[in-house]
Amino acid sequence: MLVSGNTDRTVRELSRLYSTRSRKSHRKPPQPKKPTRTNAFDNLNAKPAAVRSTVSPRTLTVFGVGVLSISLYCGYLYSSYRQAVAHSKTLQVPEDVSDRYNSTATGYDAEVELGERFMRLGARRKELVRMARGDVLEVSCGTGRNMEYYQLGERRGLDSQGHSEIQGCRSVTFVDLSPQMVEIARQKFRKQYPDFTKAVFRAEDAREVLPTAASADPRGGESSSSSSPSPSPSRSLPTLFFSQKTSTGPPTAESSEMPPSSHTAEKAGWAFSRSHFDTVLETMGLCSTTDPVGLLRHLGSITEPQKGRILLLEHGRSHYDWLNKVLDNLAPAHAHRHGCWWNRDIGHIIEQSGLEVVEIKRYHLGTTWRAVLRPKAATP
Ligand SMILES: C[S@@+](CC[C@H](N)C(=O)[O-])C[C@H]1O[C@@H](n2cnc3c(N)ncnc32)[C@H](O)[C@@H]1O
Repeated sequence: MLVSGNTDRTVRELSRLYSTRSRKSHRKPPQPKKPTRTNAFDNLNAKPAAVRSTVSPRTLTVFGVGVLSISLYCGYLYSSYRQAVAHSKTLQVPEDVSDRYNSTATGYDAEVELGERFMRLGARRKELVRMARGDVLEVSCGTGRNMEYYQLGERRGLDSQGHSEIQGCRSVTFVDLSPQMVEIARQKFRKQYPDFTKAVFRAEDAREVLPTAASADPRGGESSSSSSPSPSPSRSLPTLFFSQKTSTGPPTAESSEMPPSSHTAEKAGWAFSRSHFDTVLETMGLCSTTDPVGLLRHLGSITEPQKGRILLLEHGRSHYDWLNKVLDNLAPAHAHRHGCWWNRDIGHIIEQSGLEVVEIKRYHLGTTWRAVLRPKAATP
């Protein structure tokens, strides 16, 4: 019994051990974890971590509102442009719109100031005017927007190659077709350079300017220089303003008459007495005159043939067809209002004039032209 009892226990013990071992040996080795498959719809609303951390809903809203506003503004601009083009096409604008400046003279500076600042035209004017030397003629001078850049007073200096040359302006003759514009220029000049006497102001067509300007003599009349050819009888003598006297104020916008103070020479003291100018300057003038090619040819004929220069800062057609199309479409309306044809091909005008090109540079998508020209060298 004892034996059998022990045997039983032993058997039970063995079978327990066996069953434990066999259970252990059948256990599967640990498998590498498979990536858990997730349903695509589970993450539909989940945002990527990076986006969630940088773009807030507020930013997205501001961005959306910005894009919408810009789109609306562009739409508004486009529809205004279409309306302006339609209006422009209905206008019958004469080629000669230069009379507009008589009525816009008083507001001219205020009107162009902001645009010129934005385009940094002051710097362009300055670099051009600083090239003026000797006896200078500025045509289409307008209200004198180049005035502040002149270096008045002649002195000897050296050029870039070390050669002796005249620097600075010995005299300046300002000419504009509009008496109202030229009177504003005269007043500006007197304020800025009260002691400079060799300045003349003439209300005259630039195509008729002759260096042989009649000068006011102390007896109150006008006299021409004896050393220069006299003006042809068909051309009226230019009106000279020796501006040592302060005028009472700018002409009114309505008045198309010459301001009384400008009808007569104010004070004699200096007469221009050469056959040519050393420098002829024009800024933003080819757009306003009826015959730009004829004007340039004439300027060439009164510029000193050897060292004389014609300096231009003009605006006109662009490098780009799309911009030229805009300029063409709106040109009649712009000319009607401002007296300027802004779609002229300045390069072509210069070419047709026959003047020699020393340098041409273009800015503002090609619409601003800076040109240095000289009279064509005479063929021997
Ligand atoms: C756009 S304004 C330019 C004024 C100035 N040069 C400037 O840079 O601001 C054009 C000027 O040219 C003048 N003008 C137009 N045709 C002219 C002509 N045939 N002779 C002289 N001046 C003329 C106008 O009276 C006007 O003052």
